[in-house]
Formats: sequence, C-alpha cells, structure tokens
Amino acid sequence: MTQLNDGLKKSLLPANAPFSAEQKTWLGGFFSGLRSHLAITQSLVPAQVAGKPITIIYGTQTGNAENCAYDVADAATALGLAPVVMDMDDVELEELAQAERILVCTSTYGEGEMPDNAAALWEAISSDHAPSFENSFFSVLALGDTGYDDFCLSGKQWDERLAELGATRIADRVDCDVDYEEPAAEWTAAALEIIKDKGSEAAASSVPTAAAPKKAKSKFGRKNPMLAPLIAKRRLTREQSSKEIMHFEFSIADTGESYEAGDALNIIPRNQPALVAELMAIFNIADDQQADYEGEQVVLKSLFTDIVEIRTPSKDFIQLIAPLSGDNTFAEMVVNKDNTGLNNFLYGKDVVDLLNAYNSVANISLEDLLKTLKAIAPRAYSIASSVNAHKDEVHLTIGSVRYNQEGRDHNGVCSTFLADIANEGEGIQCYFAPNKAFSVPEDDSTDIIMVGPGTGIAPFRGFIEEREARNASGQNWLFFGDRNKENDFIYREQLESLEAKGLLRLDLAFSRDQEAKIYVQTRMKEKGAEFFEWLEKGAYFYICGDAFRMAKDVDATIHEIVMEHGNMDKAAAEDYVNALRKAKRYVRDVY
Ligand SMILES: Cc1cc2nc3c(=O)[nH]c(=O)nc-3n(C[C@H](O)[C@H](O)[C@H](O)COP(=O)(O)OP(=O)(O)OC[C@H]3O[C@@H](n4cnc5c(N)ncnc54)[C@H](O)[C@@H]3O)c2cc1C
Ligand SMILES: Cc1cc2nc3c(=O)[nH]c(=O)nc-3n(C[C@H](O)[C@H](O)[C@H](O)COP(=O)(O)O)c2cc1C
Repeated sequence: MTQLNDGLKKSLLPANAPFSAEQKTWLGGFFSGLRSHLAITQSLVPAQVAGKPITIIYGTQTGNAENCAYDVADAATALGLAPVVMDMDDVELEELAQAERILVCTSTYGEGEMPDNAAALWEAISSDHAPSFENSFFSVLALGDTGYDDFCLSGKQWDERLAELGATRIADRVDCDVDYEEPAAEWTAAALEIIKDKGSEAAASSVPTAAAPKKAKSKFGRKNPMLAPLIAKRRLTREQSSKEIMHFEFSIADTGESYEAGDALNIIPRNQPALVAELMAIFNIADDQQADYEGEQVVLKSLFTDIVEIRTPSKDFIQLIAPLSGDNTFAEMVVNKDNTGLNNFLYGKDVVDLLNAYNSVANISLEDLLKTLKAIAPRAYSIASSVNAHKDEVHLTIGSVRYNQEGRDHNGVCSTFLADIANEGEGIQCYFAPNKAFSVPEDDSTDIIMVGPGTGIAPFRGFIEEREARNASGQNWLFFGDRNKENDFIYREQLESLEAKGLLRLDLAFSRDQEAKIYVQTRMKEKGAEFFEWLEKGAYFYICGDAFRMAKDVDATIHEIVMEHGNMDKAAAEDYVNALRKAKRYVRDVY
C-alpha cells in the first residue's frame, strides 16, 4: 500500500485540488495512464509539413505492418507528400473520414482476427453509423501467412469496408505472405504513384498530422539473419515434469544489435536429421543426390535440412496429396474447403505421416513434392531478459514440442532444434522483431500487472529485470502458473528472491496440485478488488502465452472483475476494458 500511495504523491494533481479522495484516486490513475500513453504516442505531435497530406494507418500485433507504414511514409516524403503515420488505436474515425488520401497497412491475427490495436477502430468503422468516406482515395496492404485459413482477412475486410463507405480504391489490395518485404515495396510504389495525383492540392493543415519518427531499422531480417552464438542452455522444468521447458542464452556482442524488453527474437531453425532421413527414405534419395529446386541444382539432403519446411504440410502439399490419396473424406474436405474438419484431421500430422499413409496410392514424384515445399519459417520467441541486466545477451524460454501420435514420435522444428541439435558456441541464425506496444511503461512509477503462465512468463522475466535495472518505483505484480509447483515452477529462485526483496508481488496457480483446477484467472478473481484498484490507479496490464484458451479466459476474467468491483454492467465494463486497450494499458503477446 505504501508504494501505491507514493505513486499518488507523484500525481500531477496539486495537494489542494478541489476533489474528494475517491476523485483524486481516479484522476491519479487517469493521469498516470495518460502520461505513459503520451510517452508512447509522442510521434503524434502535430507537425506542419509541406505537400499534400497522406494518412497511413497501421494495424499490427508484432510490428511488421508498423514497419511497412513507416517505409510507405519514407517513400511518400521522397515524392513530396506529407505523410502522417498513425497507430489505428490513435485514429478517430470521424477525422479519418476527412482524410483525402488513406493507405492502410494491416496484419491479421488470431484466427482471422484484427490485430489488437485495430479492434476498436474496426468496430467503429463496421458500425451502421460509420461516416461516409466518399471524399477519400485509398489502398490496402494486407500482411498475413498462407499457412492460416483466413489469409489476410483483416486487410480484405478493410478493403471491402472502405469501398462500401464510398471511398475510391486507387490500387488493388496486395496480400502478402510471410516474405512480405518485396510485395509491400511494390504495392507502396504503385499506390503512391497513383494517390499522389488524387484529391485536392491543399497542404497539410486540415488533417491530423504527425512527424513520422525515423525508426532505426535493423539490417538483419529473414533473408539476411544475424548469427548469435548460443552460449548456454538448460532445462527449467524438472525431469519429472510432463513438460520440457528450456532456457537458452545467446550472445549478441558482435552483432551491433540490441533490443527492448518485450521484443521477440525470430530463430531460423534446421530440421531434425531423423525427419530428413525419413523423408529421404520415402523417395529413396541418396545422401549426395541433387535435384532442381527453383531453378538451381541443390543437394537434396541440404535442402531438406536447412532450406525448406518438411514437417508442417503446406497448403500446396495438401492440395497435391488429397485428391490422389484415395481417401474420399480427406479429398472432400479439401474440395469443400471444410477448414474445421481439415484442421482436426491434420492436427499433429506432418508431411511424412501423410506420405506414409497415402503415397503408395498417390504416387507423388519427388519433382511434385519439391514444388510444394516452402522456405523454412522462422519461429518467434518473446525475449526473456533485459539487456540492462544481461549485457550483450538475449535469453529465451522455450517449451519443447514433442508428442507421439499413432506410434510415431514428432518433434517441433525449432524448439527441438535448439533443445537437441544446436550446440553451445554455435552461431544461430536469428533476427529481432521489435514490439513497441508490448513494453514496460516509460514512466517508472507506473504499476504493472503481468499474467504469464507457462512459457508466457518469458517477457515478464525481461520486464522485471528491466524495472529492477532502472530502479523503477512502480510495483510489479505477476500471476504465474503451470501444472505442478514442484516440477514446473520455472525461474523459481529468481522470482522468490525478487519477491523477498519487495520487487515483485507473486500470485501462483498450479492446476494439478489439488483436486480442483486452479488457473491464473482463478487467482485474478480471488484478488479482484485489489486488481481493480490497481487498474483504477493507472496500472498497465499484460498477458503473454497461450492465445487460444488462456488469453481468452483471462480476458473474460478481467471483464468480470471490472463489472463486479467497478459496479458496472456488461457494456460499461466492455468500454472500460476497451479504453485500457486504446491507452495501451492492456496489451497482449499471445500465440
Ligand atoms: C510473438 C510470438 C512469441 C512467442 N514466444 C514464445 C516463447 O516465448 N516460448 C515458446 O515456447 N514459444 C513461443 N512462441 C511459439 C513459437 O514461435 C513456436 O510456435 C513454438 O516453439 C513451436 O515451434 P516448433 O518449430 O518447435 O514446432 P512446429 O514444428 O512449428 O510444430 C508446432 C505444431 O505442432 C503441432 N502440435 C504441437 N503439440 C502437439 C500435440 N501435443 N499433439 C499434436 N500436435 C501437436 C501443432 O500443430 C503445432 O502448431 C511464440 C510465438 C509468437 C508468434
Ligand atoms: C498467433 C498468430 C496468428 C496469426 N493468424 C493469422 C491469420 O489468421 N491469417 C493470416 O493471414 N495471418 C495470420 N498470422 C500471420 C501474421 O499476420 C503475419 O505474421 C504478419 O506479418 C504479422 O504482422 P504484424 O507484425 O504487423 O502483426 C498470424 C500470426 C500469428 C503469430
């Protein structure tokens, strides 16, 4: 409590302000949130820039669409336009409708959902009361991944909705797969070339303008990753645990790169030798055998090991094998685009499972197989360290994906590449994925609440280390859990020592240590009154980990807490939580 009161003493309110204690508490929280929000959105300071204004809005979860938006802004400036880059959460719909030139860059998240920072604006523009956009010209850049059923759905929805509201599409939407850089650059050039001549000549004054901050861009990426030596690895869960969670440390000393707590690291893995051998055996491929792959002669063993995804079946591979499989149920699900049925049927199956099951009938040739294989996908990992606590190091917390299905052992590509194959001292191909929205508050006196069961703890270890290194006065409250306390309480020593030093408030939920299942959301509910009090006083709230169950249950719980302890009905609680989201005080890193 004392720390909370200390926080209030730093309030912007003078001591003699004519408010009741309750009003002061509320305003204290409001200003604390606002201060941090302004720190985040300082790029939106109005600026008078010569040239026709162009509004570039982005919807992003992990920063790719944001990067694209700033690249568009750079290109627009070079053409003499006055770009305004805006986080969708900072866009007022009525103001957007006044903009004559609008470019939208958005990713798709979850299962065909808008990224978190686009949810509120999307809700507003989808409403029957949305304003007309008939004076606007627009185009959409959609980021996505063809591995998902609803490929680029958010971009498609924006494209359709703006046209429905009367806006004129000046260039076709471009839907980008994981290698988005090239198509994004082509779309940027094409869209700007047309849009620059559209609309009135008025210089920037009647629309909200912002000086687009030049973001220092990393020279490393998927196509030219850096090599970060693996310097340590150890198992975090006990041997008796049903889960293997590993801790990895990499050196970035010679890379010239750095990161912020809350960013992610993308790792480019190699495939397991056992899986490569299984695939080669199916096609009777010799160790030194070469073949043509995308116009080049390659040694197949190297191709299967280092270059292409051979575990996860690509959409093209499914399209190839299903009609030839002789399995009518499988073939029909593909023809009828029964994605739910297909996902259930394919769950846990890899390319080798499908070839083992069907190739004697399907008789797929090596050439046909090669045409369906995609480049091996990097896997993202939330960084589990602060560079201020571990100079030149990046730490990761990774759950090894291992399961046996129908008698065959399956190993997740990247998690087990690091756990089983990568040796200490070996350079690992990787690159950073900054995540500006998922970071500790700029204002060190702000309290934070973190919910991160299992590997979801990763970024919060980084957050707490960062706050400790900064001597932040704000309180840190962590909800952590897993199955069993004895076996799965990862980073226990570090967390308990922080708790003993008064730097961390820790609430634990181990689901299988008693008959009734206890999860992090159970603990949140038990502490609901305090939880709500913290929010009222301006605390930030973060969730990391499983997107499909945990994050949804925690979201439902926060609504329940707000209803119960804030005495609000469902709609008011919804508004309250949306306001937290918009102020970037409720942010998620879920997967
Ligand atoms: C922004 C972000 C941050 C992330 N941070 C972390 C992190 O900090 N720590 C972490 O561990 N992961 C994290 N992930 C997840 C990580 O990127 C990988 O998805 C994960 O490690 C699995 O990759 P893999 O290559 O080992 O497995 P893959 O080869 O990609 O296989 C995974 C697939 O295997 C199947 N599968 C898994 N388990 C089973 C089972 N029991 N039965 C049947 N099928 C199964 C599922 O289809 C699953 O999609 C993060 C993801 C994102 C997007
Ligand atoms: C958990 C998760 C869910 C995703 N869901 C979809 C999806 O439903 N459809 C799609 O096309 N892409 C999906 N993607 C891919 C992202 O849209 C893609 O990685 C994009 O480049 C991310 O851009 P951002 O960093 O701007 O959010 C998903 C990615 C993740 C990690």
